Amino acid sequence: MKFEIKDRDAAGRLGKLYTDHGPVTTPTLLPVINPNKILISPKEMKSCFDVEMVITNSYIIRKHKKLQKIALEEGVHHLIDFNGPIMTDSGTFQSYIYGSVSVEPLEIIEFQKNIGVDVGTILDVFGTPNQTRKEAKEGMKETIKRAKKSILIKEKMGLACTIQGSIFPDLRKKCAQELSSLDADLYPIGGVVPLMEQQRYAELVQIILASKQGLSAGKPVHLFGAGHPLIFPLAVALGCDVFDSSAYVKYAMQDRLIFSNATMHLKDIEELSCCCPVCSNITASELKKTDDKERMRLIARHNLYISMKEIKIIRNAIRNNTLWELVERKASENPWLIDALHVLKTKKEKQWLEKFEPIHKKKALIYTGPHTIHRPLLDRTKIRMKEWYQPFSDTIIVLPESEKPYHISYEPEIKKIQEHNPNVEIIIDSALGPVPIFLDEMYPFSQSVFPKNIDKQTKSITRKYFKEFIKGKEVIYWDNEKSLQKIKKSSEKTNEQNEDRKRIIAVASMQFGKDAGDILFSGALSFVKSKKTNKIRNVYNSNEHVVSLRASDGLFTLKLAGGQLIHKHSSFPRYRIIVDDDAVPFIKEGKSVFSKFVVGGDQILRPFDECIVVDNNDTFLGVGRCLLNVDEMKDFSFGQAVKMRENIS
Ligand code: GUN
Ligand code: ZN
Repeated sequence: MKFEIKDRDAAGRLGKLYTDHGPVTTPTLLPVINPNKILISPKEMKSCFDVEMVITNSYIIRKHKKLQKIALEEGVHHLIDFNGPIMTDSGTFQSYIYGSVSVEPLEIIEFQKNIGVDVGTILDVFGTPNQTRKEAKEGMKETIKRAKKSILIKEKMGLACTIQGSIFPDLRKKCAQELSSLDADLYPIGGVVPLMEQQRYAELVQIILASKQGLSAGKPVHLFGAGHPLIFPLAVALGCDVFDSSAYVKYAMQDRLIFSNATMHLKDIEELSCCCPVCSNITASELKKTDDKERMRLIARHNLYISMKEIKIIRNAIRNNTLWELVERKASENPWLIDALHVLKTKKEKQWLEKFEPIHKKKALIYTGPHTIHRPLLDRTKIRMKEWYQPFSDTIIVLPESEKPYHISYEPEIKKIQEHNPNVEIIIDSALGPVPIFLDEMYPFSQSVFPKNIDKQTKSITRKYFKEFIKGKEVIYWDNEKSLQKIKKSSEKTNEQNEDRKRIIAVASMQFGKDAGDILFSGALSFVKSKKTNKIRNVYNSNEHVVSLRASDGLFTLKLAGGQLIHKHSSFPRYRIIVDDDAVPFIKEGKSVFSKFVVGGDQILRPFDECIVVDNNDTFLGVGRCLLNVDEMKDFSFGQAVKMRENIS
């Protein structure tokens, strides 16, 4: 079964999963269909709720003679009257609830195959959170054993191999690694229902992270039994692609309405505040008076509308690169989710998350509260500032936070400072930490919105960071012109060309690394500027167009001549994506690089980074824009890895 990434944000992906019954956009929610009692027909789910794929239970179908007969004779699609993709579960959950099941692991695989499901599931061993480590390990080993046997007989059916290991991250990771080598089609994270029921989201996050860290990045991941939309944004941000929901029915049976941030009992609702087709056509008091069966039918519909709406909100957040904001906002509505976010603050988890974080985003980075400063992208910026950015001077003038872009709002001050001494480094003491004036238009410095009154935790974090940055430097805090008296006057004069040069060197160091300025801009430079804004547009080195500076995010687009300079002056595999010889003719025609052709590359490259593309012998082929990180390029078998910008022919 093919799976590819179409868009991304955080470690979340907007993907396409291709099944024999059509493609499915992920993240997606598979409503659980009880074949014995269909409350909302899958057909209606498709036409009215935009459901693309459903999940039903092969164990239940097999257990009931009548259902079994129809499924075996006419197929599962006929049985539940749905011509879209169908996944089935295997009986594991029933085994967890009732203690055992009357089916063998391979029998249920054969049965799923025989009824024609698109994605079947192994009979994994449900690992509960209260197990000892020994018990969890045994269950995990048995699960792997069953997966290995099941994969051999799956034939053309898609197979979901569930990751178990209870609450032990090392067992989860090991299980994920072993199952990854089987090349299954879908990887559910199992055994998490009890954690979800008890809102133990911090442990849930640890399990998701450990599982994802053991898995191949190129496979879709399912969070088994996570039906409440509250958890969807965080789970997607960590790389979960598929959810299933029986919650829409289960909650309806108890007169409970699902909302994006919580669940409410109908008796506590005076007015229906929701605008779904159900709530738009009935009042709360009418709903309360409706007979039991109809009321359940209506509430289940409301619950499914809300759940599907959340999925769409998340997909849009991925498209707009605002997923972290959604996660943080959601967490602010639930204390256990705040605890879950804290798990992401450890160095190890941040380092893992950072690898997936795009280099720039479509929308500004918006502060939502104390967690914002911990976003992986801001950590990256900090590290690059420390390790890649080269201050132009050991004397620093610090200007307080102001309107953006800073070089415009501080134009008079900057002019005075530069007339006095053009060589001092001007830094803004911003809400994000130190911002060198030449980086003031670069993402995320210019494209971020923080309030004037920032929470204490964020303040103390940025304070510490600022202090580290200025350590060992001569620092002058700007007050007024008198501040200049503290700096030695220079006879040197500044000019626009010099300032432009400093700006492009500063941006290149943050975008490409310490030495990038030297590599790209060592020759005779000339600039093309916007007539309207006087901003740098194109940079020429010895009359060759090496880079363009994008107005939207203040970052460079690499041109062919720039790529050639990098190729010549950097050592293999820096900046490179290395492709198989088979891909070379396509690249020479200007086609994108597909993941299946990528054999390796510079591990530092991140999604949306500019890169150079070379063959196995390090022959330069062109410049492009990464859509994935290098591990993803190697793991994915389908879809684009690098969009070529320019190529040699
Ligand atoms: N449904 C909910 N949790 C699980 C699980 O761990 N495994 C399977 N197969 N189904 C589930
Ligand atoms: Zn509603």
